[in-house]
Amino acid sequence: MNAPVSPQASDAPNTVYLKDYQPPSYRIEKTQLRVDIGEQSTRVSSSLSLERQGEACDRLFLHGEALELVSVAINDRTLSSEQYHVDEKGLTLLNPPESFTLQTEVNIYPKQNTSLEGLYKSRSSYCTQCEAEGFRKITYFLDRPDVMSDFTTTIIADRATCPVLLSNGNRIDSGTLEGGRHFATWHDPFKKPAYLFALVAGDLASIQDEFITQSGRRVALEIFVEPKDLDKCDHAMSSLKHSMAWDEKVYGREYDLDIFMIVAVDDFNMGAMENKGLNIFNTSCVLAKPETTTDAGFQRVEGVVAHEYFHNWSGNRVTCRDWFQLSLKEGFTVYRDACFSADMGSSTVKRVEDVSLLRAYQFAEDAGPMAHPIRPASFIEISNFYTVTIYEKGAEVVRMLANLLGPVEFRKATDLYFERHDGQAVTTEDFVQAMADVSGWDLTQFKRWYDQAGTPRVKVTDHYHEDSRQYSLTFSQSTPATPECSDKQPFHIPIAVGLLGGAGELALKLEGEELTDLPEDNTHKVLELTEAEQTFVFTDVPEHPVPSLLRGFSAPVKLSFAYSRQDLAELMQRDSDGFNRWEASQNLALAVLDDAIVAYQQGKLDSFTVDPMLIESYRQLLADAELDQAMVALMLTLPSQDYIAEQYEVVDVEAIYTARRLLAKTIACELADSLRAVLESYDNTQAYRADADSIAARSLKNTALGYLLLEPSQSDTDYALAQFSNANNMTDEVSALSALLYSESPQVAEHAERALAEFYTKWQDEALVVNQWLSLQARDPRPNALLRVKALLEHPAYDGTNPNKIRAVIGAFCMANPINFHTGLLDDPSAGYRFLADQVIALDAKNPQIAARLITPLTRWRRYSEVRGQAMRSQLARIQAAPGLSGDSYEIVTKSL
Ligand code: TRP
Ligand code: ZN
Repeated sequence: MNAPVSPQASDAPNTVYLKDYQPPSYRIEKTQLRVDIGEQSTRVSSSLSLERQGEACDRLFLHGEALELVSVAINDRTLSSEQYHVDEKGLTLLNPPESFTLQTEVNIYPKQNTSLEGLYKSRSSYCTQCEAEGFRKITYFLDRPDVMSDFTTTIIADRATCPVLLSNGNRIDSGTLEGGRHFATWHDPFKKPAYLFALVAGDLASIQDEFITQSGRRVALEIFVEPKDLDKCDHAMSSLKHSMAWDEKVYGREYDLDIFMIVAVDDFNMGAMENKGLNIFNTSCVLAKPETTTDAGFQRVEGVVAHEYFHNWSGNRVTCRDWFQLSLKEGFTVYRDACFSADMGSSTVKRVEDVSLLRAYQFAEDAGPMAHPIRPASFIEISNFYTVTIYEKGAEVVRMLANLLGPVEFRKATDLYFERHDGQAVTTEDFVQAMADVSGWDLTQFKRWYDQAGTPRVKVTDHYHEDSRQYSLTFSQSTPATPECSDKQPFHIPIAVGLLGGAGELALKLEGEELTDLPEDNTHKVLELTEAEQTFVFTDVPEHPVPSLLRGFSAPVKLSFAYSRQDLAELMQRDSDGFNRWEASQNLALAVLDDAIVAYQQGKLDSFTVDPMLIESYRQLLADAELDQAMVALMLTLPSQDYIAEQYEVVDVEAIYTARRLLAKTIACELADSLRAVLESYDNTQAYRADADSIAARSLKNTALGYLLLEPSQSDTDYALAQFSNANNMTDEVSALSALLYSESPQVAEHAERALAEFYTKWQDEALVVNQWLSLQARDPRPNALLRVKALLEHPAYDGTNPNKIRAVIGAFCMANPINFHTGLLDDPSAGYRFLADQVIALDAKNPQIAARLITPLTRWRRYSEVRGQAMRSQLARIQAAPGLSGDSYEIVTKSL
């Protein structure tokens, strides 16, 4: 090799390609670990039994990072310096034998490990996070998911400070040692990749329960938390038991070990981790009790507990061959947990929440510089690919498969998948193959969903022939270019439809279909769009209908049809598909918001009047006693700023914020009586309950309160203050606080400040509640929020090493306060961008995963005005130039510049 290489290029992190995949040259049959935890450092001794598979090779590379090597031996013989080589990426063995035991000893420093990857300390506990590539920070290993090993782990620690010692599988030994120390040995009978390894040592308390599986096996369940949090574990425990029962009932999947443990820690980069038999969770996804946790918080705990539990089959028993297959486990598991949550509460509400998230964040990701298919072809840092695309779009793709196959065939296909691949590390191809084998479907075209990024646009037009009584729908699809590919092939898109006539939904008969072939209730149909352009003709249609398209959001696409506002109002009232009723309400609001945005841009907002059609539709909604109150609340909620921004080529931040605010205030004034009626009919004296109906009633009441406080009467303000002081649950308490805080009404301001201070005094010892308090302030839309955010960073409650706190302040300000992030300070418009870059640069050295994630809003610079775009871009360039930048942040800035 004599090509000149610039120093920068050789320092730049490497790109990994799916096409370069090679099976591992060795297996690790058995892994024996001895982890001796000391106050200053931890000694990890490992013994790996390695077996060559395939041809002889003159070197074997094992991953290892931030390890201090003490000794290395093969079959008990210490290696001489000619027999191995060590660098900052790992250990290379020269001329390794075909079958041998590798013994290494290393020192690691958990207390200094601020990356929260590998073995680290969270408050008083030691814990691990190994996905995706964290195990290599614990010991030398073939740290890749297709190397699956049988793990035995001995943990040694001080008995007084670490009475609890946990790892995967079953405890097979434990005892006391001299010097106040003790040990426990765990063995996991299931072979697993290193990313599923876990270890915990700390002073934790626990609640215990049990579950009897469908085949009659008794499983011990245990949730470990700090003693002060013992009163907040019941909801997680009941969620776990519901999840176990649900996976048996819906997928026939039973738990496989005698014990299942959850440990909650305060410092965690993500929500939770599915380590075999020993899930480790962010406290925010375990702890819940009514006084401290909102309804959304309860639902999040239920959903995440289920998600991690479901991974035991979709992820652990059947795992990923390589990290390009991440969506194999994540997309499927998100789909599973979404169906579970739908079954536990309201399925339409759950669907609306998920689609809102997908369209606000995943569509934006798919349209930006980091766009990637759900099975990416390359990456620099895998941590950057734990994205809404891999997770949520991945789940949408599984949902489409499930809907195409139907429930019976889909279940047969998942049975086949689990049986065929149990104990294996497989690919998304294998998953789809099981679907095809069972159903006989040709899924060749469908598989494009796995390797083409970008959100397809589907344009629909219709035509009604009165004479022939035919109604045709013409669909055309196209997908914009994304970084990996500019020429997209058409997707296989299932489009669920119905047709609304004047008196109800019409029977659907496609040209060529015989009535006798059709089901009795045939008002609903799935059209399969496979061509760039395609027309479907319905026959015997008595009138020109209003089409209800993409019911239940049957595919992750942007669909457009030229509805009149009258059509939308009709769909909002009458569609039998609950999701599309909500969708119509969003589209009607978007149309009216667009009126206001245009008026703002033309300087005519003063004389602007809101289309009464919207107000009247909302009035009817509020009077609709049949509708689920949670759906009423969702339909009354204006599209988020992010989703509105998604509708425009260039995001006009001020116009969107002002238009949305004006519309909200108009609704508050025009519908004040109906909104007050909601408050009046709500029974504030009832005991708190967490069932779906109670949650729905609270969400409608608090939506009404939020509106009323925009233009409040004295009695509205009093209502909010009383609710704030007397609430017996966090949902009501925090809703009242945010209604007061975001009111902008001068009469309310002083009350709001006082309430905010009181709230902190009351809850300062509850970390998760303090996070809510921080984030409420970071999201405050009033001018100069940045000054308050900077003050929060100095507040004693803030901790710049804790990801939850970072997300609550910096994340919330930059991602959930667009008006302040983009307008900065009155005398310094780009201050928000500079602030973010400063924070990213400071954090990158400590916790690169979190730093890289924070950069996201800056990467969207192409979507803003020239001046803003350039200001954002120059901050990206500043980050890129920061000395010693991590591969994580390097990948994000480089791809987006
Ligand atoms: N597999 C985890 C999940 O259930 C994701 C996860 C947890 C993770 N911690 C992480 C990913 C740290 C990357 C880094 O979705
Ligand atoms: Zn997951």
